[in-house]
This record gives sequence, C-alpha cells and structure tokens, in this order.
Amino acid sequence: MHLPDYKEARTRDKREYKRVEYSFSDDIKNKYIGKKFHLKTYGCQMNEHDSENIEALLIALGFSKVDDYLDADLVLLNTCSIRENAHNKAFGMLGRLKHRKQEKKDLIVGLCGCMAQEASVVEEIMRDYKFVNFVFGTHNMYQLPEIIDRAIEENKQQIEVYSREGDLVEGLPVVRANNYKAYVNIIYGCNKFCTYCIVPYTRGMERSREKEDILKEVDELIKDGYKEITLLGQNVNAYGKDLYDDYTLGDLLEEIALKDIPRVRFMTSHPWDFTDRMIEVIGKYKNIMPSVHLPVQSGSSRILKLMGRRYTKESYLELFNKIKEVVPGVSISTDIIVGFPGETEEDFLETLDLVNKCKYDNAFTFIFSKREGTPACKLDDPVSLKEKEERLQRLNEVVNKYFLENNKKLEGKVVPVLVEGVSDKKNMYFGYSDTNKLINFESDREIEVGSIVNVEITSAKTWSLDGREVK
Ligand code: SAH
Ligand code: SF4
Ligand code: F3S
Repeated sequence: MHLPDYKEARTRDKREYKRVEYSFSDDIKNKYIGKKFHLKTYGCQMNEHDSENIEALLIALGFSKVDDYLDADLVLLNTCSIRENAHNKAFGMLGRLKHRKQEKKDLIVGLCGCMAQEASVVEEIMRDYKFVNFVFGTHNMYQLPEIIDRAIEENKQQIEVYSREGDLVEGLPVVRANNYKAYVNIIYGCNKFCTYCIVPYTRGMERSREKEDILKEVDELIKDGYKEITLLGQNVNAYGKDLYDDYTLGDLLEEIALKDIPRVRFMTSHPWDFTDRMIEVIGKYKNIMPSVHLPVQSGSSRILKLMGRRYTKESYLELFNKIKEVVPGVSISTDIIVGFPGETEEDFLETLDLVNKCKYDNAFTFIFSKREGTPACKLDDPVSLKEKEERLQRLNEVVNKYFLENNKKLEGKVVPVLVEGVSDKKNMYFGYSDTNKLINFESDREIEVGSIVNVEITSAKTWSLDGREVK
C-alpha cells in the first residue's frame, strides 16, 4: 500500500527520473475477456487524454467498453480536484456505485486521477468507502493492469498512490476518442504553485517529454490522417526548460508547424513564460491556429500577487496586446477566478476593467474554491458566498457581451472549419473555426467528418455562429 502525502508532493529537485518504454505484461493480457468496463472522466484535457491511455490498458486486459455504468463489471472514475464541485461529483458517483454494488456484488470499482493524489480523499475512501476495490494515482497510471488484477485476485482494497513522479513512461497504448484530432502531451506537472491551485500537488514537478518522442508521435498521427493536434501541458510554455539548454516551446511549435499537419494548437499557456519567440512562431505559420488561451485569473495586481501569478495587470495587458499585434485575427480566451480570499469590490472592478480592455473571445469564470493544503486555503476570506455569486454574475454579463461582439465581427466573413459532426437537421453540420469558435452550418453536399471546409458566417450568437459552406 502507498498513501499520498502533500509534503512529498511539493518537492522539486533536479531531473532524476528516467525515460522508460512501456510493455504490457503477457501474463495478464486478455485475462478478463468477456468483462465490461465503464470509464468516467472528470476534469481537464489532461485527464481526457489519460483516459485514452487507461481505456487502451483496460482493453489490453480483455475488457470491452460500455456507455452505461449499469452494464459494467468494472467502473473506473478518473477524477479531478480543481474545485469543490468536481470533487463532489465524483463522491456523488461513488454513492451511486455503493448502491449498485448491493445489487451486483461482484462489481469492481476503482478511482484514479487527481483526487487519488489527495491524502484526505484516500483516507475517506479507506474509512467510508470500503467497497472501492482499488485506487491509483496520476504518477502510476501505467500500473493499472497489475493493480486491477491484484484487486480482483486478492479481493482486497488496493491503494497504490505515489506522491512523487516516477519514471517518464513512453509508449503507453492509446485508444483515441477521435480520429481526426488528437492530444499530444509535451510536458507533465506544474512548478508554478499558484496559491489557490492543487495541480502542482496532484501532477508533480514539470517534466518535459523528449522532443524526439513528441515528434515521432506527431508523425504517426499525420500518417494516420489526423488533421489537428493539440499540444498539452499544465503550462506548455515551460516546455524544455528541465531538459534542454536552448530548445523551447517556440522551437517545438516551429518543428511541428513545418510538418504536413493542417492544424496545431497548444494549451495551456501561463502568461509569465510567454516569450517573443513563441509569439513570432505563432504569427509566422498558417497551420498554428490563431487562438491562444491566456488565463489571467484577476485584473487586480494586488490579488495577482497574492495568487502568486508572477505578473501584474499592466504586464499582462502588454503581453495581450503584443499577441494581438503579431498574430493577425487571433482569438484570445481566458480563465478568471472571482472571490479570491480578501478580494474587495475595488479589486473586482479592476477585473471588470481588464475584461473591458481585453474583450475576450471566450472566458471560463469560476468562484474561488478552497483546496485543502494550498496556501490560499489559510487566508482570511471575509466576503460572503452570496456576494461572490453576484460578482460572478456581473462578470459573466460583461464577458458574454464581448463574446457576441467579437462573433458579430465575423458575419459575412469566410472561415475554415474542421467538421466534427452532423446535426439532426438535414444538411446541417458543426465544427470549429481556426479561432476555435463553434460553427453550425449548412451545405448542399455530403461532408465527411474530419474534413476542413470554408464557411461563410451568416449570423452570430453568443456561444456559436451560423453559416453556409462556400466552395
Ligand atoms: N494550468 C492552467 C490552469 C489549469 S486549472 C493555467 O495555469 O492556466 C484551470 C483553471 O481553473 C485555472 O486557470 C483557474 O482559473 C481555475 N482554478 C484553479 N484552481 C482553482 C480554485 N481553487 N478555485 C477556483 N478556480 C480554480
Ligand atoms: Fe495551477 Fe498555476 Fe500551475 Fe496553472 S500554472 S496548473 S493555475 S499552479
Ligand atoms: Fe482537474 Fe487534475 Fe486537470 S485537478 S483540472 S484533472 S490536472
């Protein structure tokens, strides 16, 4: 048994892990043929991509996938700890599974992902959720086949969570959710330790994958006909720093852009590490999509300091304007937290002012959520939840206004759209533009999902745009 511990998870040292090639143990290959699994994923793209590996490992064990957990012999929750509601959702599901297990005694239940890295969650599971068969963390996902096998063979709860990152495992099998757009991890972990955030504890220190491994994966995706690649990391801008003397995200983006891939995206970028070289590369290559997610969190320099974000309102605006200048037609989206401990009405008005200056194309807005073990958890927090909810509502009104305003500017314009699906109505399709906007459009021909077509925008809404295909 291995239990998580935040003190250990905080440790950052020199690169001491090694790159290892994954191999699936032959003894258990296809051992569970005929059994069915249901995998439920919460949280960010990182978790979604991890689930693509988890699914492949389960399939190698012999399991087949079902969409309804009531049909499954094994239910696995890949969890997220970013805010309390993500946490509550997973525990709500565990409650339903407890009930289900009374009907189906041999049901196997497991929990993994970021919540598994939290000591308090694991303690709660050991105390109140004894029916959970196994728990493993983000650092030992690759051990899933052995852990599940042991949980079944020994019929005893298996808790295997490592607080520190281990080897950097390459060559895990993967079942991609999509066959025209793909996620590619470039860096794991986060060293920023923003004071409100749990991710550096649940995902460990920054570890870049070797560029050869990334480029090889990209080449394989191109060979398989993929149209869009999203480079993933909690902070992709830090790519290469732990590994190379002078090879950065700008260099990696450029090398990938020179390949025959129509669309390259990357996320997420912390404003602090955003270099001129990156901006130059994004502006230079047509296949690097003009769309940047640039989380600001707050418009108050005082709050930004308390958050440990390492930039001020002014330096953020400078970066924002530089990106807008160098990358033609770029859309910029953001994340904003309201109600950080001690945020005053004046601080909040600074955030509104910043939003009025940046006029974001998209924004994800949240109320601060206390995460146990993070520094912000200990700060005085006198503002009531009701007031924070009002601030969120006021913020949302302003951000929504700009979504519509920006979308309106596209009316009459022709934009490239990667087609993702057909809607119920005849001849209607949907997909995403280069600037990452949802486009619903009509066409008089049959279009294959995964193709890129030109669409003239006929009408703009807050969350999407309507259009028709033009040749
Ligand atoms: N690595 C990304 C963030 C990943 S988490 C980055 O730094 O940009 C996604 C978003 O969740 C964050 O940008 C932040 O806005 C929000 N978030 C993180 N911790 C939070 C907390 N404790 N309460 C509320 N929102 C939080
Ligand atoms: Fe969390 Fe900050 Fe790291 Fe993003 S950069 S994952 S917000 S600590
Ligand atoms: Fe959640 Fe972990 Fe992602 S906490 S947001 S799943 S890195």
